[in-house]
Amino acid sequence: MTDASPQSDPAPRPPSASEVELVQLMELPDANLLGNVHGGSVMRLVDTAGGLAAIKHSGGAVVTVAMDEMSFMEPVRVGDVVTVKARVNDVGTTSMEVGVRVEAENPVTGACVHSSSAYLVYVALDGKGSPRPVPPLEPQTPDERRRQAEAKLRRQARLARKRAIQAARAAKGE
Ligand SMILES: CC(C)(COP(=O)(O)OP(=O)(O)OC[C@H]1O[C@@H](n2cnc3c(N)ncnc32)[C@H](O)[C@@H]1OP(=O)(O)O)[C@@H](O)C(=O)NCCC(=O)NCCS
Repeated sequence: MTDASPQSDPAPRPPSASEVELVQLMELPDANLLGNVHGGSVMRLVDTAGGLAAIKHSGGAVVTVAMDEMSFMEPVRVGDVVTVKARVNDVGTTSMEVGVRVEAENPVTGACVHSSSAYLVYVALDGKGSPRPVPPLEPQTPDERRRQAEAKLRRQARLARKRAIQAARAAKGE
């Protein structure tokens, strides 16, 4: 079994160091009632690729804490070859936002569509299951800097929404 004990190198890392690409043929067990691929099968691949990117950046175990803005733009068909690309967009203290892009290719015709995109948040855990600090992210390119800036806006929105819900519950005594 892989050694999952956290590596403690705090040196900044570029987003490219966390890049992950999973390729999978979609088969009959992935089908929904319409005969296309079930959204949940795609989401599982997205979470797997996203988690691997977060593990690569943080050098240890992570858990998924949020998955948002999962959009399905085009259906994936049984028999398509799906490519799932993931990389870390930004980091907080213990959390990381990972951007994931799903492409589906018909291997017979070569036609390829951008099927889905998603943003997920992972938290790195230490050996006791508590959040642990992750290395800083050092974007290298204009695209990486843009993704980081946009990820910071999503982080603010997520945390503001969480605080607003907690405040509303507290006001009701829940
Ligand atoms: C992840 C977990 C350990 C965080 O616990 P917590 O008590 O909220 O810890 P903290 O308040 O210290 O937050 C840790 C980080 O998570 C982030 N976070 C917490 N809730 C969040 C949310 N809803 N959305 C985005 N980020 C969130 C915090 O901002 C913080 O990030 P930062 O250190 O970069 O600022 C806890 O929520 C957990 O165990 N969740 C279950 C995860 C799991 O089992 N996933 C698999 C599901 S099958």
